[in-house]
Amino acid sequence: MSAVNDASQLAVNGGPKVRQQPWPGRALFGEEEKAAVVALFDEAIRTGSAFGYNGPQEEAYCREFAEYLGGGYADAVNSGSSAVYVALRSLKLEPFTEVICPAITDPGGIMPVAMLNCIPIVADVRPGSYNIGAEQIAACLSERTSAIIVAHIAGEPADMDPILELARSRGIPVIEDCAQAHGARYKGRPVGTLGDVGAFSTMSGKHHATAAQGGVVFTRNEATYWEARRCSDRGKPFGLEGVPSNVIAAPNMNLNDLSAAVGRVQLKKLDRIVARRRDVARAIHEGLKKRSRVVTPGWQPEGAEASYWFLRLHVDTSQITVSGDQFASAIGAEGIPVAPSYRAAFQARAKWLVEKRAFGSGHYPWSAPEYKGDPERQFPCPNAVSVLDTDFNIHIHESCGEQEIADILTAIEKVEQAYCK
Ligand SMILES: Cc1ncc(COP(=O)(O)O)c(C=O)c1O
Repeated sequence: MSAVNDASQLAVNGGPKVRQQPWPGRALFGEEEKAAVVALFDEAIRTGSAFGYNGPQEEAYCREFAEYLGGGYADAVNSGSSAVYVALRSLKLEPFTEVICPAITDPGGIMPVAMLNCIPIVADVRPGSYNIGAEQIAACLSERTSAIIVAHIAGEPADMDPILELARSRGIPVIEDCAQAHGARYKGRPVGTLGDVGAFSTMSGKHHATAAQGGVVFTRNEATYWEARRCSDRGKPFGLEGVPSNVIAAPNMNLNDLSAAVGRVQLKKLDRIVARRRDVARAIHEGLKKRSRVVTPGWQPEGAEASYWFLRLHVDTSQITVSGDQFASAIGAEGIPVAPSYRAAFQARAKWLVEKRAFGSGHYPWSAPEYKGDPERQFPCPNAVSVLDTDFNIHIHESCGEQEIADILTAIEKVEQAYCK
């Protein structure tokens, strides 16, 4: 591709695309997953007994998942949202207390707070990151704070040391939302093992999956684990001696043996998936150093080993003639899978949270007399507004090869040459 300074050559303006062929699929599931599922059906047909939940496959998956994280306890549930709900609930938070939440996350990473009759308090991101920072958490703490949720967005670990130091100095538990960060590490330790409880989504878009939907709650604390089990399965008296009946009101959020059988095969692939994503990200970062003046890797804390659920890149918008969104959209038009902005994940602007709507027609739990904070509170989050204007996401994955890396770099270079000041 020869250099263009003329914006009319951009695909977004009708010019030829850098990449004509479709992006490769992930090929996440293969013959091994199929064989695992077929084996369960064969067994069910042979014995006449249906497979269920909390059975041998699910037990093995939970054990292997915990081993993957270096030991501890795992409870497989039916989604990442359920994992966040159960993780929070396992900490026995009092209703009407406040839970500090990330500004940029999936709805499922914050809605469970309100479902527990607690109040979500959205903390801004650290400047230049999609992730919550210690300073931003500190600005949200109150005597009502009962927990902090940290999400490792895009598979980039949040800067955990200052966050944990702050949380521990106040005796506040930390939930790590690792839905997007399977296999990511911070200062050599896997995310999900740093705080009090980790929550993972294992739906089929994630690094590794328990078939179509799923999630895992992980903790190193045995008492928290048993509470999580009770919270995810109708308050059954798991881990309690001599208690004949269900002990708390809770939903059924169990995973099942069929999904767990797929998850067991997938866990074996996880290291390879993460390693390949890191190689792809590294090659793009290195290519950008040589070929770009305005696009750089997004800031990450020291000691971060991201697992790149997607690749976040930063644009120096002071050096271009269009907005960051227009710049990224033009890269997308060249045939690259780009999300020009991650604004859809900006939970501080979500309708339900702005309007304070969780149950029925009123504003409960914000309106409850037991809640002593400001029920009208909104969350401006200027750092999030800024990073969502300047950063964009490329959907790299483990099946990306040298051609995909080259196409990404060529598309960025082409757009940059047309739009650079
Ligand atoms: C950060 C984060 N938290 C929670 C969730 C919810 O997971 P699930 O879709 O499995 O409910 C997601 C889903 O993508 C997520 O990205």
